[in-house]
Parts: sequence; C-alpha cells; structure tokens
Amino acid sequence: MPLAPWRSPIARALYRNRSLAYCKFVQLATVRPDGHPANRTVVFRGFWEETNQLKFITDFRSQKIVDLYEQPWCEVCWYFPKTREQFRLHGRLALVSEHTQDDRLQQLRSQTWQDLSLAARAQFSWADPGEVRDLNASFQMELPSETEVLPEFCILLMDPISVDHLELRGDPQNRTDYKRQPDDRWVTIAVNP
Ligand SMILES: Cc1cc2nc3c(=O)[nH]c(=O)nc-3n(C[C@H](O)[C@H](O)[C@H](O)COP(=O)(O)O)c2cc1C
Repeated sequence: MPLAPWRSPIARALYRNRSLAYCKFVQLATVRPDGHPANRTVVFRGFWEETNQLKFITDFRSQKIVDLYEQPWCEVCWYFPKTREQFRLHGRLALVSEHTQDDRLQQLRSQTWQDLSLAARAQFSWADPGEVRDLNASFQMELPSETEVLPEFCILLMDPISVDHLELRGDPQNRTDYKRQPDDRWVTIAVNP
C-alpha cells in the first residue's frame, strides 16, 4: 500500500517537534463494552514497516484489550505543541499477542521486545494492572531476558480510515480531512476549521 497523504504532515510535525521528548505521547481512545469512552496516553512507536499502521505496545491484561475484543474502533488524538497542530486519527485496532498465528507479526513482536529498555521490559512482569495493590509485595521481579518475550507483552496496530489535521498557525487556521475509500485510495479535502 502506498504511503497515505497524511504521512508527510505527520513526519514533518515529528521532525519539527523533535526537541520535545513528549511529542510521541498520544491519546488513544477506545469504547468500553458498556459503551462508555476510555482514553489514555500511549507512546507512538513508529509505523509498521511500509504500512500506514501506527504501532503501540501494551499489556495483555490491561482494560483496553477487553475493549478491543468487544469492538476494534478507536481514535488517536495527537497534539504537537511547537507547531501547534493536532491530528485525530480514526480507525481500527488489531492485537498482536502470543496467540497471533502470523510469522511476520510474531517477528515484529519479538523485535519490538528486544528493542525495549530493561526497565520497560520489566513492567510486563509486574502484578496485574488495575488490581488492588498489595503494598507489602515488591515490584522488583526478576528482569525478563531479551530473547524470551513475556506472554503479557502485546503490540497494537492502529489502521486509520480517516485523519483530521488542524493547524492553529495561520490566519485563518487550516484544517484538512483525509478519508480512505473502499478501494484504499485516500481523498484529501480542505475543510473549514
Ligand atoms: C507518558 C505516558 C506514556 C504511557 N505509555 C503507555 C504505552 O505505551 N502503553 C501502555 O499500554 N500504557 C502506557 N501508559 C499508561 C496508560 O496511559 C494507561 O494508564 C495504561 O495503559 C492502562 O490503561 P487501560 O486500563 O485503559 O488499558 C502511559 C502513560 C503515560 C502517562
């Protein structure tokens, strides 16, 4: 699939905001099984190979996994403070877990695991997220090895079907809608901000 037309504005924003360590933090919203929204910060970890899919990592035991088993729709909201622009990406989440039966995706999972810092890997051996904390228990577990991917470690791939790009700079402001067509081509429309 060719690179979507919103990829270069995102690449440009990442480049121009590169001095801000937090410019890769995005908000990822899902829908709870009871229909309520759920939103949290996650780290953008690049695009998956030559696709337009955004890569995130997470813990299999977390609530967002329950949400996406129910239905995969999500929205990512991404603000770049230096250039004062926002991207809202709407699409579907796919889970890559230890159960995924696809060699390329398992390769992606183990490569991503190897690229993590020791501290980041260790989090996947912590006690169940969201459960009542046992204040006597220690979080200093054995450090997981580089080669043995813990079963809790998952990748989320977010496949956008529309992107809304708002640039606050400029008078008037600029807003561009990108929509994916059923044949996977993208249509770009300038809309009122
Ligand atoms: C700066 C920052 C970065 C974070 N990055 C991630 C991440 O990459 N993956 C992740 O699962 N949670 C990340 N978290 C924690 C989530 O925001 C959230 O608390 C956790 O995933 C549990 O969410 P859930 O119960 O809705 O699944 C991050 C939190 C902060 C504040």
